[in-house]
Amino acid sequence: MTTATPTDDIEFASRDRIAALQLERLRWSLAHAYEHVPHYRKAFDAAGVHPSDCRELSDLARFPFTTKAHLRENYPFGMFAVPRAEVSRIHASSGTTGWPTVVGYTARDISTWADVVARSLRAAGVKPGDRVHVAYGYGLFTGGLGAHYGAEGLGCAVIPMSGGQTEKQVRLICDFQPDAIMVTPSYMLTIVDTMIAMGIDPRSTSLRVGVFGAEPWTERMRSELESDMDIDAVDIYGLSEVMGPGVAQECVETKDGLHIWEDHFYPEIIDPTTGEVLPDGEHGELVFTSLTKEATPIIRYRTRDLTRLLPGTARTMRRMEKVTGRTDDMIILRGVNLFPTQIEELILGIDALAPQFQCILTRPGRMDELTVRVEHRPDAPSGAHTPAGAALQRLIKDKIGVTVAVDVVGPGGLERSVGKARRLLDRRPRD
Ligand code: DLL
Repeated sequence: MTTATPTDDIEFASRDRIAALQLERLRWSLAHAYEHVPHYRKAFDAAGVHPSDCRELSDLARFPFTTKAHLRENYPFGMFAVPRAEVSRIHASSGTTGWPTVVGYTARDISTWADVVARSLRAAGVKPGDRVHVAYGYGLFTGGLGAHYGAEGLGCAVIPMSGGQTEKQVRLICDFQPDAIMVTPSYMLTIVDTMIAMGIDPRSTSLRVGVFGAEPWTERMRSELESDMDIDAVDIYGLSEVMGPGVAQECVETKDGLHIWEDHFYPEIIDPTTGEVLPDGEHGELVFTSLTKEATPIIRYRTRDLTRLLPGTARTMRRMEKVTGRTDDMIILRGVNLFPTQIEELILGIDALAPQFQCILTRPGRMDELTVRVEHRPDAPSGAHTPAGAALQRLIKDKIGVTVAVDVVGPGGLERSVGKARRLLDRRPRD
């Protein structure tokens, strides 16, 4: 078992000290956004609020939300709050629909980002002097470069492999002997499958820690990865609009949800329908306000990620529970709401099934139908009527309350992604 070596004293500060720092920084961030970004000036004015109205943290609830649509409307640089010469990096989210969303960083933003990722890695049990294999994609996606600067900041040697070329990933893991790997959990599974195909025991590598994020994954997936690879598997969360990876991180000693680095990112949970702020402990949509970001400050950004806030444990900063899913990934089937993560938990409870799956939504007649396509483990039977398929169908009916079709396919039967897995395919006709 790995133990963390914490050294940053703000991580253990009293709640009072954290709140005082947050208020001071929040007031700065609201004023900075208002003074330098026309969108925020217009939106605050329209809502009848001014940065000087923020006298305590709860006053933030009076300020308007920011959504992805606002960022798109201001494409490419309308949300930037500093002169062009002060921007030292630009990233953009993949943007599967419409324009990508663009975010900027000053040199100080890059240094803050490296600090929070370094802090995250330390919480994950990574130590200065360790070797870190980065298999998050490099490029406009924040995963690769965010991980990279953080690992360097902690004093590690980085192996900047990026995503893809899976056999080469395996060879480098064997040859370079990294202590930690940073990768999406779904791509980790692909790397593990490839190791097995190449005759390498995934438990025999030098890896000690996996820092997995960029997509939802479950407790059962943690057990699967930890036992398949003989590592500690911990969760890292972030989003480009707010910074990139390193907004929140799970501590290796507790593995009980992710500590939000609240001295830089202020979290709220809201009711996604009414927008009302909910008390800690209640489930809802996560909203973030940046407290220190210079180039693209973000005020009350609606992440669409569903979770809840919990008190600190290994650190004094609050935790967010593992993300259940995004509001966009919620499937509503005959009045029942369900998420791909719930399906993942049930699949991983059946020995014959592998963790590779997809949820396919169709509308053959007037009603939506869901097919769960899942791979079986090598040596287990495939087909629509396998015992494992029937067992999964029964479990979904019992635990979630809906009837779905289950299609069990052979190992390698589903498309592999080298980054974020696409768990939900919406094949319903567009009307
Ligand atoms: O995925 C940043 C990142 C890179 C985080 C590497 C962690 C590791 P985006 O491409 O902007 O940024 O996507 C952000 O991904 O709103 C969530 O829906 C999802 N997401 C990120 N981390 C997690 C996680 C990066 N640990 C979107 N658990 C977010 C669940 C996650 N979902």
